[in-house]
Amino acid sequence: MSSIHCFSVAIGNTQERYACRPDQTLLGGMEQLGRKGIPVGCRGGGCGVCKVRIESGATRCERMSRSHVSADEEAQGYVLACRAYPQSDVALRAAPRLARCIERHQARTLSHP
Ligand code: FES
Repeated sequence: MSSIHCFSVAIGNTQERYACRPDQTLLGGMEQLGRKGIPVGCRGGGCGVCKVRIESGATRCERMSRSHVSADEEAQGYVLACRAYPQSDVALRAAPRLARCIERHQARTLSHP
């Protein structure tokens, strides 16, 4: 039995990096390792809070609701992290609307350790 190769996932907003299996969603892999950076919601493609933009690397996506990811956004690389599986090492960023919250939170955490 061959062991499953993990891909490395880098979150641009928080400089976090974690290992994710190809049969694990980007969100699931992050949560399993207790990492932060992608907002966690329903985990089932229903709420849209986990939207991220893939900046480099390949992912395989399950069907995503057009109310959360438009065709345009999909073409620009946006996916729902709870519906996307890494197919290579991946670099991503949380969607801009939420990225601001994360970066603010991160700045607060850094200034008040
Ligand atoms: S966590 Fe709700 S859509 Fe991904």
